Amino acid sequence: MVGKDFTVTPWEVSGEVDYGKLIKEFGISRLDDKTLGRIKKHTKELHPMLRRGVFFAHRDFNWLLDEYEKGNKFFLYTGCGPSGPLHLGHIGTWIFTKWLQDKFDVDLWFQFTDDEKFLFKDKSYEEIQKCLEDNMLDVAALGFKPGKTHFIVDTRHANLLYPIAIKFAKKITFSTVRASFGMTNEDNIGKIFYTSMQAAPAVVPSVLKKKNIPCLIPLGIDQDPHFRVARDVYPKLGYYKPAIMHSVFWPALKGHGAGKMSSSDENSAIFLSDSAKEVEKKIKKYAFSGGRDTIEEHREKGGNPDVDVSFQYLKYLFEEDDAKLTQIEKDYRSGKMLTSELKDYTIKKINGFLKEHQARRAKAKKDVDKFLWGG
Ligand code: TYM
Repeated sequence: MVGKDFTVTPWEVSGEVDYGKLIKEFGISRLDDKTLGRIKKHTKELHPMLRRGVFFAHRDFNWLLDEYEKGNKFFLYTGCGPSGPLHLGHIGTWIFTKWLQDKFDVDLWFQFTDDEKFLFKDKSYEEIQKCLEDNMLDVAALGFKPGKTHFIVDTRHANLLYPIAIKFAKKITFSTVRASFGMTNEDNIGKIFYTSMQAAPAVVPSVLKKKNIPCLIPLGIDQDPHFRVARDVYPKLGYYKPAIMHSVFWPALKGHGAGKMSSSDENSAIFLSDSAKEVEKKIKKYAFSGGRDTIEEHREKGGNPDVDVSFQYLKYLFEEDDAKLTQIEKDYRSGKMLTSELKDYTIKKINGFLKEHQARRAKAKKDVDKFLWGG
């Protein structure tokens, strides 16, 4: 969606995103209390990202649960476009995906779209392959279930994906792609075809098992347009439409108005490879603060956690304890907690997480080999 105040496409997110508008424009549904209650019946508890509205919308999720309750198990599908180092915004969706895999004990198909990033970015094929190797380690380090997790790489698993993708491609016109993504005559022809590669994994298990299996795709909402374009094609090819769960964006360090956290601006993102010192510097120097100009004013009038990026990161992932988060929110709003204290706490939390992640990543090569689909 390219609007007046903000833009959300798979390749660009800018401005202050109005999620209510996106829900309407994309024709998706809010994850309401009734649906959350249905999830809780199966999972016993709700993930913080569900309780706090980080995953906030869906397509056909109630249908997926109907099928699940009839004994028709689903599989998960999500993915990564390797074009640079991964940041915190990327792994939010994957940490949630892992929770779903653990709770429902289901398979996960994870697509690495090296073709996409080669076609869309100003990088050589070899550079993209380096990013791919690097990103696979980070994803493997998240601890998905061995035996139930399948990595597919577009250029390496073309034998599996291409025959499916061309069936989607035959039913999607250039004018649809142009209208959905704003492409022009100057765009390369690979870009026009690409959506059919991202649509394909949602039916791979159905193709392999020769029977329809429901699919659930957790994603950041910028990826939804691919599936909106492909949506009507699934039933035309004899498959279920995939269900989708949408996450809001992790804001860039510079704040909600500066778009999503993204690899293209080094100072907008905290990377999984950042050192403790780098994290400290980035939060202290760049993280947009909802605090006041002076300590006196802050004590008197209080801060605004709703726009404070450090607080948002705690809310999205790093403070799991609801009571603690509520206390921080209250203390910051009242002025009892200062920006420097909030930032120090956030730095400690992020660095604790990254230290563990980096240690797991250092040992993840063997997991990548295990996860790579061998057909
Ligand atoms: P990519 O690599 O750009 O992003 C991977 C996933 O991370 C999400 N994401 C974010 N979520 C919240 N806040 C952010 N700041 C943020 N930045 C990125 C993305 O929405 C995405 O879910 N084409 C895809 C790869 C892909 C895929 C998929 C993604 C292939 N198949 C199926 C989702 C589902 C891509 O380039 O993602």
